[in-house]
Amino acid sequence: MADFDLEIRPFQSHDLPDVLELLRASLGETASLQRTPELFEWKHVSNPFGRSLMLVAVDGDTIAGFRAFMRWELEQRDGAQLRCVRAVDTATHPDYRRRGIFRQLTLAALDAASEDGVDMVFNTPNPRSGAGYLAMGWSQVGTIRPLASPTLAVFRHAPDTGELPDPSDFIKSPEEVGKHTFADRGARGLRTPRSAAYQEWRFTRHPTARYTRVEAHDSGAIARMAFRGNRRELLVSELYGSRPIRALWKTRNRARSSYVGAYFSNGSPERAALLRSGFLPVPGATMTLMVRPLRPLELDVTDLRQWDISLGDLELL
Ligand SMILES: CC(C)(COP(=O)(O)OP(=O)(O)OC[C@H]1O[C@@H](n2cnc3c(N)ncnc32)[C@H](O)[C@@H]1OP(=O)(O)O)[C@@H](O)C(=O)NCCC(=O)NCCS
Repeated sequence: MADFDLEIRPFQSHDLPDVLELLRASLGETASLQRTPELFEWKHVSNPFGRSLMLVAVDGDTIAGFRAFMRWELEQRDGAQLRCVRAVDTATHPDYRRRGIFRQLTLAALDAASEDGVDMVFNTPNPRSGAGYLAMGWSQVGTIRPLASPTLAVFRHAPDTGELPDPSDFIKSPEEVGKHTFADRGARGLRTPRSAAYQEWRFTRHPTARYTRVEAHDSGAIARMAFRGNRRELLVSELYGSRPIRALWKTRNRARSSYVGAYFSNGSPERAALLRSGFLPVPGATMTLMVRPLRPLELDVTDLRQWDISLGDLELL
């Protein structure tokens, strides 16, 4: 740090334009992931688990680095809740890289989270930052490999529209949330509690991702369209209800994309529904789940078998 005078301080709202510019330049954007003020507000301010813990590293007037921990909660099998943060957006300005800013910001954020009574950090880092997290005490939980199944559309030689036939199924507004929430089952492992407030925020208030709900008897699915290369797919974020296989079949039968993809933890009823429906692991498409406990925990959170999660828990789209 000898060649510049660096200050680490909490993010302030006037930093936003520069921070967004830094995130855009460092992490990029896609059609469904635009680093707009609206996305930032959704992710870091209006999250029902609380406002994110955010730090900046500044060199005079220049934002040299940004670090955000999103607030989260995970429920254990016995109903007890773990206070968590998710290490999400982090970027160092290209002119300031390899001088320890990411490390300094992350360690400062860990201290702040610890002081705040947070139990654990978790994230799915990209390969550029994975080694850095391991060096700061993170542990690898395991590889998350989504499963996929072709749909009827694959036989029709129809273009991949990625759309369900009836757009009226799209969840349009938060006002509709009353009829768009499902009762959650009990946690079989670490699981985001699907409260009405969480579901409303997660699936109706996202500024760019559009979710569709498919209902089948007493079960339901929430899915979103996505691109893999130039091919469209439908990703099932959540399955709810006592017979998730019914909602899964209905979703697959109605999808106009060639594939439906999903991830649910081993041992969950939703995973059983995927396997009984012929879903197979997608080669190459993986995420690495990592954790950093901030105090000794009774549960071995580094064991993937202790987790009960879906794409809805992992993605922030
Ligand atoms: C990933 C990223 C945040 C790292 O930021 P950074 O501030 O350069 O990170 P650090 O300086 O703390 O550490 C990076 C490397 O520099 C090394 N380093 C740190 N201080 C150093 C110094 N004084 N001299 C030489 N090397 C140093 C670290 O050991 C580390 O090495 P490694 O990558 O071989 O493990 C940054 O490259 C970036 O913004 N990338 C694009 C966005 C991104 O991928 N974000 C992560 C999303 S999960």
